[in-house]
Amino acid sequence: MPLLCVNVDHVATLRQARLGQEPDPVLGAHEAELGGAAGIIVHLREDRRHIQDRDVEILRRTVNTRLHLEMAATPEMQEIALTIGPDMVCLVPEKRRELTTEGGLNCIGREGELQVFLAPLLERDIAASLFIDPDPAQILAASQTGAQFIEIHTGHYANAKTPAALKAELDKILAGIAYARELGLKVNLGHGLGYVNVLPFAKVPGVTEYSIGHSIMSRAIYVGLRQATREMGDIVRGFVD
Ligand code: PXP
Repeated sequence: MPLLCVNVDHVATLRQARLGQEPDPVLGAHEAELGGAAGIIVHLREDRRHIQDRDVEILRRTVNTRLHLEMAATPEMQEIALTIGPDMVCLVPEKRRELTTEGGLNCIGREGELQVFLAPLLERDIAASLFIDPDPAQILAASQTGAQFIEIHTGHYANAKTPAALKAELDKILAGIAYARELGLKVNLGHGLGYVNVLPFAKVPGVTEYSIGHSIMSRAIYVGLRQATREMGDIVRGFVD
């Protein structure tokens, strides 16, 4: 059964808006876990715009499920991951001026470099995932880095403006899931997924984990994070038509 991991970056976004102490993503993570989250995800960005080092350190001690760290493939982040020991790292491309992660990581031609970067993390029993577009060449390259997982970038699907574009993006992702599994990779999905556009994926086999933040946090404003997590969990587990 697929797992729902909740990205709590936006709890920190709200806190950083006033540079104060609340809301605390540590408490957010706890609420998400009480709502059935199978894991908590944070993205420690180079510019520290939302999640801070202290958040990751405390979450490592308080998360009862799994802690996944999204990060750029930089020496600084590698050192932090090795020190803190998240259950999984997900390598993402990072640009300073983007509003959120805008596209998948390029793995083509970087297989050796990524393998070297991931090796010490894998040795320390930290699982590795690469956030990539549903492009067969990227998937093949990702399979040659030592990463056990890919996270397919669903942002283009989420942003598709016409039914035809939506179908084309959905088909790419479904083909990507099948191809990655053929290559022995486990497949996660994430970016831009909400309570409606996630439904087609809940009907297909092969997804290990969903990484969802913005839509759950948006709904949490009205119903609370515990309830918002529970509702999304029911959908990804296929309990809702
Ligand atoms: N996966 C990755 C790699 C991301 O960078 C993000 C955004 O932080 C997400 C998933 C979650 O995306 P969203 O907040 O749109 O659900």
